[in-house]
Amino acid sequence: MGRGKFITFEGIDGAGKSTHISFVCDLLRSIGKNVVSTREPGGTELGEALRELLLHRAMHLETEALLMFAARREHIAQVIEPALARGDWVVSDRFTDASFAYQGGGRGMDLKKLDVLEQWVHPTLQPDLTLLFDVPLEVARARLDASRNLDKFEQEKAGFFAATREQYLCRAQQYPARFRIIDSTRSIAIIHKELETLISTI
Ligand code: ADP
Ligand code: TYD
Repeated sequence: MGRGKFITFEGIDGAGKSTHISFVCDLLRSIGKNVVSTREPGGTELGEALRELLLHRAMHLETEALLMFAARREHIAQVIEPALARGDWVVSDRFTDASFAYQGGGRGMDLKKLDVLEQWVHPTLQPDLTLLFDVPLEVARARLDASRNLDKFEQEKAGFFAATREQYLCRAQQYPARFRIIDSTRSIAIIHKELETLISTI
C-alpha cells in the first residue's frame, strides 16, 4: 500500500468549507479510500484543548500563532503522518495556510516568522491538494450571521477578513500546483458537481 494523500479545506469563516467536507469524504470512501477526517486547530485531545483557548481567549498575536503550530505539531505526529504512512487519505478542515491567512494576513504577523514555524514543524509535509472556498466578505458574513453563535475569530471586523482572504489568495498564487479556488458564491449542488470532477482527477 502506497502513501495516502493529504487534502486540506481552507477559506474565511462562513465561506462554506464545513458544508462540503463530509461530501468529499463520502466521495473518497465510495472510490475505496480509507479516509481520516480531522480539523485544525484540534484533531487530537491536546489540540482540542488548545482549540478551546484559541477560539475563546484573547492573547498576543504571536502566542496565538505559536499555539496554532503547537497543536499542529501534535496533530501531525499523532494523526496525519501515521494515517498517510498506512495509506489512508487525510482530509483536514484547515492547516498551515490558515495560519498565514489569519495570523499573517488578518492579524498582521510577520510572514517570515510564520515561514520559520512552518519549516520547523513540517519541513517536508505539504498538502497534495488544497481547496480554497472563496466568497466576498459580505456573503460570508451574511451566512455566518444566519447560522451560529460567533467565536473570537468570527467576531472580527470586515478589515480582518479582507486581509485574511487576500492572504489566502496570495498563497494560492504562490502554490498553484496544490491549490484549487472554489467559487463558493454558487449553489451547494453546483459546488458538489465541481468537487466530484476534481476528486475524480486525483
Ligand atoms: P465555514 O465552515 O466555511 O465557516 P459553513 O460550511 O459552516 O462555513 O457555512 C456557513 C453557512 O453558510 C451554513 O449555514 C451553510 O449552510 C451556508 N452555506 C454554505 N455554503 C453555501 C452555499 N454555497 N450557498 C448557500 N449557503 C451556503
Ligand atoms: P473553524 O474550525 O473553521 O471554525 P468553525 O468550526 O467555527 O467553522 O476554525 C476555527 C478558527 O480558527 C477559524 O476562525 C480560523 C482560525 N484559525 C487560525 O486563526 N489559524 C490557524 O492556523 C487555524 C488552523 C485556524
